[in-house]
Amino acid sequence: MNKLTFQYDMVLDFVTKDEIHQYQTEIDKHFAAIYNKTGKGNNFLGWVDLPDNTDETLISRIEATAKKMREQSEIFVIIGIGGSYLGARAVIEALSPHFSHLEQENNSPVILYAGNNISEDYLADLLDVLKNRDYSLAVISKSGTTTEPALAFRILREDLEKKYGKKEARKRIVAVTDKEKGALKQLAGEEGYETFIIPDDVGGRYSVLTPVGLLPVAVAGYDIRQLLEGAKAMKASIGRTTQIDENPVAAYAAVRNALYNKGYTTEIMVNFEPRLFYFTEWWKQLYGESEGKENKGIFPAGVSFTTDLHSMGQYIQEGLRNIFETVLSVGNPRRELKIPEEEKNPDKLNYIAGKAIHEVNRQAELGTALAHVDGGVPNLRISVPEINEFVLGQLIYFYEMACAVSGYILGVNPFDQPGVEAYKRNMFALLGKPGFEKETEAIRKRL
Ligand code: PA5
Repeated sequence: MNKLTFQYDMVLDFVTKDEIHQYQTEIDKHFAAIYNKTGKGNNFLGWVDLPDNTDETLISRIEATAKKMREQSEIFVIIGIGGSYLGARAVIEALSPHFSHLEQENNSPVILYAGNNISEDYLADLLDVLKNRDYSLAVISKSGTTTEPALAFRILREDLEKKYGKKEARKRIVAVTDKEKGALKQLAGEEGYETFIIPDDVGGRYSVLTPVGLLPVAVAGYDIRQLLEGAKAMKASIGRTTQIDENPVAAYAAVRNALYNKGYTTEIMVNFEPRLFYFTEWWKQLYGESEGKENKGIFPAGVSFTTDLHSMGQYIQEGLRNIFETVLSVGNPRRELKIPEEEKNPDKLNYIAGKAIHEVNRQAELGTALAHVDGGVPNLRISVPEINEFVLGQLIYFYEMACAVSGYILGVNPFDQPGVEAYKRNMFALLGKPGFEKETEAIRKRL
């Protein structure tokens, strides 16, 4: 089994082992509340059992639909926002060659995204790209009413119908939504789109191991069985004990809360592999929406090193001392590239000639961690041997469980997101949506 490890030796100048271990009793209680479904938000704990409960019928249906979509599409568009898109993108981008959006590789469609913003230029440019290519799409929305994906779907549905005719267009649309609620469910039923259900008890940001993530990942050509196997292995391994010294989820939750209590209110997730950029985005949403409430919570930020060492590095090294960083460290690259020797050594790089590029990256990682610790930034490290489907499954489950435990330590409900509604109410009022007449009148007075 690929091993995931959590190291926190580089936080011990900032918090003591005792301060970390004082969370043990609480952690035991919170694990029990999660497994027994007795804590806050306990009707949204369906994600806990997804690795074991996703049955063969569903996996086979996802794979069969994905095969059809792959065969008929040069481009596959994933429409969704927040939890209905970030997990899929995190996994697909982590597994894909870096420039796979430029051309089809291994007969996989190029994967593009829509419905994750309200930019007119973005959608118009997307329509241009789709014009001369065969494409299909998945529209993913649990509520089935979110404005961003609904808008993108309306535009792309019309485009598909014009391009292929209504009957053929129907075969190019897959809907992933609630089992009964929402406009998307109704539309999918009326049009007869292939539809996958998001379980009632799984919230958006915990839904990557439902069809929300599995279908797009399968269309992109990756092994969803291994993804689930990785999550299953992590579930089994953390299910054995809740001891901070033996359970990486318990340790990560305890360390980050010990640091938070000492004024470290921002956590930066660090990667040294650009293909983990969207994994960081997924993590930011998971932790931001789960913990940031009741005027509490660690602010989740993300950086890609060494790129951002040339932008955010200065702040991290010497700025306000309220940050800690958690490095997602990858043991081995997928490819091999050695630095060539040059006789005249014009760039003075011969001292590293013969080394793999990854070796340089590794020393950058180590050097950065030490520099940041010296600068007053506690450094946590989650290490995985490589990036593949199994490891991503492990990481997903690890972070989800740690988020739930951390949220409970903080005393909040890690499964709701009441604050997300505020901007929507204002936007609907400003747009004059029927049913928002009072809000429209009130908001116009403020302008
Ligand atoms: O995690 C969440 O619940 C949110 O980020 C939602 O996933 C996001 O707002 C999209 O919602 P929906 O799937 O209902 O379109």
